[in-house]
Amino acid sequence: MIESNYNYKTHWDNAYKKNSSKNLGWFESDPKLSIELIEKCNLNKNSVLFNAGAGTSKLIKILIKKGFKNIIINDISSIAIKKLQNKLQNKPSIKFIQDDLTNPKKLSKINKVDLWHDRAVLHFFQEKYQQENYFNLLKKVVKKDGHVILCEFNLDGAKKCCGLDIFNYDKKMLIKKLGKDFELLEAINYTYKHPYNGNKRKYIYTLFKRINYN
Ligand SMILES: C[S@@+](CC[C@H](N)C(=O)[O-])C[C@H]1O[C@@H](n2cnc3c(N)ncnc32)[C@H](O)[C@@H]1O
Repeated sequence: MIESNYNYKTHWDNAYKKNSSKNLGWFESDPKLSIELIEKCNLNKNSVLFNAGAGTSKLIKILIKKGFKNIIINDISSIAIKKLQNKLQNKPSIKFIQDDLTNPKKLSKINKVDLWHDRAVLHFFQEKYQQENYFNLLKKVVKKDGHVILCEFNLDGAKKCCGLDIFNYDKKMLIKKLGKDFELLEAINYTYKHPYNGNKRKYIYTLFKRINYN
């Protein structure tokens, strides 16, 4: 059981200090399912794409190659952000924001976004207040007609990752969390396989569209 004053920033900084990206349990050499879902969102090159807890994901490089000009990268770990900045060689079109999604400060001031993408981040938030703060931020910043992609460990998926307990999800739970202003467009059960060690993890990938903004 983790203490309520546990320092998650240090936890994640240590994970990124001690491991090369390829050795991390969530490393994807080809984030193809995220890309497939992003392609269904009718985005244009000036759309604002928000990546929650991006880590050192290869997704960002692919999005830049596709020509997206407004990408906001967030992570709680400043080490992860530095590593990603080095990989991307400080592209001016990308904004990096080190902040905690469960206690947002800088994040609560960002402009509205067309896409919120989260792979393997929300499922770390165990406490009610963490989940509430996360979803309140999401609901504040996602535009009407904007899209939300949430990819989390499935109910029969892993119970621990990176030394932390997991809060597992299925599509019904995500529908309930987002509420009536969001319509589910797709839900896919997906078994991820680590490209180097072959470990498997069961995810639920979901794509939602915002149909109301009150
Ligand atoms: C399992 S990794 C997934 C990284 C990336 N999304 C991917 O798919 O490769 C979880 C990421 O969430 C970040 N993270 C964890 N808690 C966070 C929080 N409260 N706010 C922002 N980022 C957080 C971690 O630093 C880490 O980079």
